[in-house]
Amino acid sequence: MFGGSVGLFLLLSVLLSYGDTGSFFEDNHKKAFRAKVFLDAHDMVAEGQKTFRFDTFGDEAFWGGTLRLHEAIAGKQNGGVGPGVSPNTALAVGLKVDKEALPKSLKRQIKRGNVDLDDPATTLALLKLNAVVGVTGFFDEYGTIQSIGIQCALCHSTVNDSFAPGIGRRLDGWANQDLNVGTIIALAPDLSFFSNLLNLSQDTVRTVLNGWGPGKFDAHLLLDGKNAPTLIPPAFGLAGVNLHTWTGWGSVTHWNAFVAVLEMGGQGTLYEPRLNNEEKFPIATENGFYNVRRKPDLVTKKLPALQFYQLALQAPRAPRGSFDKRAARRGKRVFNKQGKCAGCHVPPIFTEPGWNMHRGEEFGIDNVQAERGPEDAYRTTPLKGLWTHTKRGFFHDGRFPTLLDVVNHYDQTFQLELSSEDKRDLIEYLKSL
Ligand code: HEC
Ligand code: HEC
Repeated sequence: MFGGSVGLFLLLSVLLSYGDTGSFFEDNHKKAFRAKVFLDAHDMVAEGQKTFRFDTFGDEAFWGGTLRLHEAIAGKQNGGVGPGVSPNTALAVGLKVDKEALPKSLKRQIKRGNVDLDDPATTLALLKLNAVVGVTGFFDEYGTIQSIGIQCALCHSTVNDSFAPGIGRRLDGWANQDLNVGTIIALAPDLSFFSNLLNLSQDTVRTVLNGWGPGKFDAHLLLDGKNAPTLIPPAFGLAGVNLHTWTGWGSVTHWNAFVAVLEMGGQGTLYEPRLNNEEKFPIATENGFYNVRRKPDLVTKKLPALQFYQLALQAPRAPRGSFDKRAARRGKRVFNKQGKCAGCHVPPIFTEPGWNMHRGEEFGIDNVQAERGPEDAYRTTPLKGLWTHTKRGFFHDGRFPTLLDVVNHYDQTFQLELSSEDKRDLIEYLKSL
C-alpha cells in the first residue's frame, strides 16, 4: 500500500517535471519500440546462427537412412562397413573441427600426440562432442552411431586453423574450399538413390562424385542429370544483393528452402514451379521436386531467422599486409574507370542493385551453366571478401585459376588495353575487398 503510493508519487512527479504528458508517453513509446526491435534482431541472429550451425532439418533420414553414410564413417570395427573414416581422413577430405567444442583435457591429449587420429573411433568421439563442423551424428544409448545429418555450416563454414590445420574457431559464412563433397557422398555404401534418379550404375555415380574435387558441388545434378560442379560460394556479404547463386535462382530465403529440402534432403516444404519443366529439369519434373511437402515440416519455421543471420554476416576485411595498399588505391580507379568493372560490380555491394543478371556473351563466356538455371543467365558475383576464396579458381566453375587470368579475360573481352601496371593494381584492389 505504502509502496504503491510512493510509486504513484514518483510517477506523478516525473510526469509533472515533463510538463507535457503527451510527449512523455510518446518518447517512451518510441524508446520501447526501438528497444524491442533491437532485442528482436538480436534474438533472430542468435536463432539463425543456431540453425545455420546445428540444424539438420531432419536430413539424417537421407544421409543416414537412405545413403547409410554413418556406416562408412564408423567402419566395420564400430558396427559399420569398410575401413571407416579416421580424423586424418576426415580432415583430408576437408571436414573441419570446432576447437571450442573440444574439452580442455582432450585438446591437451591431442597436443601431446596421445589421441589416435588414424582411428575411426576417434571420429565417432568427435561427432559425439558435436565438434565436426556441419555434421551431426545420432547415437543410441550404447553409444553406437545410428544415423548422420548435415548442416549449412558443412559447406559454408571453415575454421581459422588456430589449433592445428583443420581445427580451430568457426568462421561462419566462409566457403569451405577444402571440402570434397563428392568424395564424401561417394563413401556411402548405398548410392541407389542417385543411381535410380540418374539411371546410372552405382559405380558410375561414384566415379562422377569422385570427379568433382575439393570446394565444389553440383546443385543441379539431381534436377537435370548433367554433371558440371560449381564452386561453393561464401554465404556472407549478401545483404543488399538481390539474386543469389551463380545462376541467380532467387533470394536468400528462396535458396535456403531450396537447399534445405532438395539438396540436403531435409523435411520441409518447397514450392518451385520453375522446376516443372520437362526439357530443362527432366529429373526434377519427373519426381515432382517442384512441389515438395514433407511432413512434419522442419524447415519453414526456421527460414526467417536463417535469412536474418546470413544477412547479418558481413564479409571479413582483408588482413593487413595481404595486399599492397598503394597499388590497391590505384587499382580502385582502374576498377571504376578504364576497367569498367563497377558498371556491373557496383560498389559497395559489388553487384547490381536490381536485376543482377547477365548472359554469358555480355562478359565473354559460354552459357552452358547459365542455361542449367532458371534465367539462362549468370548473376554478377558480389566481390566482397574475395580474398577468402582464391584456392579453387574464379567464376562459377573455377575456370580462371588466378585473378590475373580473370583480369586478362576482361581485358580481352572488353578490349580495355590495360597496361601490366594497371592489371597488377587492379588485382591488388580485388584482394583488398
Ligand atoms: C553440400 C554443400 C552445401 C550445403 C550443405 C549448403 N550449400 Fe549453400 N551453396 C552450395 C553451392 C555449391 C552453392 C552454389 C550453387 C549454384 O550456384 O549452383 C551454394 C549457394 C548458396 C548461397 C548463394 C550465395 C551467393 O553468393 O548468392 C547461399 C545464400 C547458400 N548457399 C546458403 C546455404 C544455406 C543457408 C544452407 C543450409 C540450409 C546451405 N547453403 C547448404 C553448397 C552448399
Ligand atoms: C557485364 C557485367 C560485368 C562486368 C563489366 C564485369 N563483371 Fe565480373 N562478373 C560478372 C558476372 C556475371 C560474373 C559471374 C561469372 C560466373 O558466374 O561464372 C562475374 C564474376 C567476376 C569475378 C569472379 C568472382 C568469383 O567469386 O569467382 C571476378 C573476380 C570479377 N567478376 C571481377 C571483375 C573485374 C575485375 C571486372 C572489370 C575488369 C569485371 N568483373 C567486370 C559480371 C561482370
